[in-house]
Amino acid sequence: MIHLNDKYYVSRGLHRKCYIHPENENRCIKVNYNEGAKEETNREIAYYKHLIRRKIAWNSLAQYYGAITTNEGVGHIFDLIRDEDGQIAKPLEYYVASEELTKKYYDSLVDSLKNLKTALLKDRIITMTIKSKNILFQLYSNNTQQGNRLIIIDNIGNSTFIPVASYIRFMAEKKIERTWQRFLRSLIKENSNNKLINQLIHDVNSN
Ligand SMILES: Nc1ncnc2c1ncn2[C@@H]1O[C@H](COP(=O)(O)OP(=O)(O)O)[C@@H](O)[C@H]1O
Ligand SMILES: [Mg+2]
Repeated sequence: MIHLNDKYYVSRGLHRKCYIHPENENRCIKVNYNEGAKEETNREIAYYKHLIRRKIAWNSLAQYYGAITTNEGVGHIFDLIRDEDGQIAKPLEYYVASEELTKKYYDSLVDSLKNLKTALLKDRIITMTIKSKNILFQLYSNNTQQGNRLIIIDNIGNSTFIPVASYIRFMAEKKIERTWQRFLRSLIKENSNNKLINQLIHDVNSN
């Protein structure tokens, strides 16, 4: 059994707490901490297993490594997303809430958003609502091969179990496109104080 405590604590959302894996600093363990969490987590894990079978590229999602028993109940192991300097990556929400940061990373944000959409379409990754707090912007200096990128850490899969949309490319593409445009609209709406946000979304949508 793995023992989790405050020393390893990273953050929490509405349903899950996220800890650094005590035996691997590049992995995290997520545990449910309230009742509503179970159904959602199980749905998501079922979808992750489906993606593992499909051998997707994992360049836009934190990779999943299976379950583990912890002192806080069943935990699920994922890649812990860190910036090049070792800090845990911050959500896109943080970067677009600040006009200054949007300016600083403007070109990279445009590229990363375009790349994220391409990756979702290529691997037919279905998501529930895409939220900027559930996407981490991982900073890697641009002189490395990798560059900065956006990685989704939460809310993947579909409410209907193993949906038709995950198998039929045309259906999947339609669904991904719809969810994506809703996501871009939410970025504009939630960051209306940021004078660069409209231009950013416009640039993401142009070729
Ligand atoms: N793979 C990860 N790498 C780095 N931080 C993460 C990762 N997964 C989750 N986190 C952090 O933990 C928080 C809660 O995780 P999340 O999966 O979003 O839980 P919830 O389902 O409750 O929203 C996230 O908002 C993020 O700050
Ligand atoms: Mg979340």
